[in-house]
Amino acid sequence: MRTPIIAGNWKLNTTVGEAVTLTTALKALVAQERGVEIVVAPPFTALAAVSATIAGSNVCLAAQNVYWEESGAFTGEVSSTMLKDLGCEYVIVGHSERRQYFGETNESVNRKAKAALTLGLKPIICVGELLEEREADRTEGVIAAQVAGGIADLSTTDLLSCVIAYEPVWAIGTGRTATPAQAQEVHSIIRSLVALAASDDIADQIRIQYGGSVKPDNAAELLAKQDVDGALVGGASLDAASFAAIVKAAS
Ligand code: 13P
Repeated sequence: MRTPIIAGNWKLNTTVGEAVTLTTALKALVAQERGVEIVVAPPFTALAAVSATIAGSNVCLAAQNVYWEESGAFTGEVSSTMLKDLGCEYVIVGHSERRQYFGETNESVNRKAKAALTLGLKPIICVGELLEEREADRTEGVIAAQVAGGIADLSTTDLLSCVIAYEPVWAIGTGRTATPAQAQEVHSIIRSLVALAASDDIADQIRIQYGGSVKPDNAAELLAKQDVDGALVGGASLDAASFAAIVKAAS
């Protein structure tokens, strides 16, 4: 049995004060939830304050990005060591917005995932096709390249610490969610790719989240699909009640 994982990606939102208010409200709303892992990914600037706010609760912390070097002359970057120091358990790598606007490639995603794993941070590796790729029937090839590139050279143990997030780019922030059948189809492909790269056993255990316009009213039907093990939530995670409702749909 795979424990579902619901993560909120706050993106470029929240001041420290807003982050603490949101986290405090969320913590109270999900305090009784069991059987689901709950993760929030605030911006770097709010990690310390959110970390203190969730101490002792069932909510855990993720960062939205990381650099693969541990320290040195890399102005503006943040390392896995620094994120661990703040209490992060997870880090999102390869989000489509980073691929699109900041030049992230399958290779850089892989380097980040490896560096994170070395320092004991669990990567949430994002993959997803563009609308034109889906329309040109290229979804499977794009996903295969992203998954293979993202998890290249990871050990079996490392793979078990990874989460893969399938986020079709056309569904992000558009209100246009993949249908549960569309999500299931790609999740099942991703699981087969992991089986090929590692083993059936690892593929059975790895968790695959869906992301892209997940809301309280569509979460349950997506999460009901066999290979959908959680959600990576953008917009709806900025509202404590909406995010809590998605968590409840998974528990
Ligand atoms: P939305 O839920 O706002 O579509 O964002 C999804 C996402 O990009 C999560 O990483």
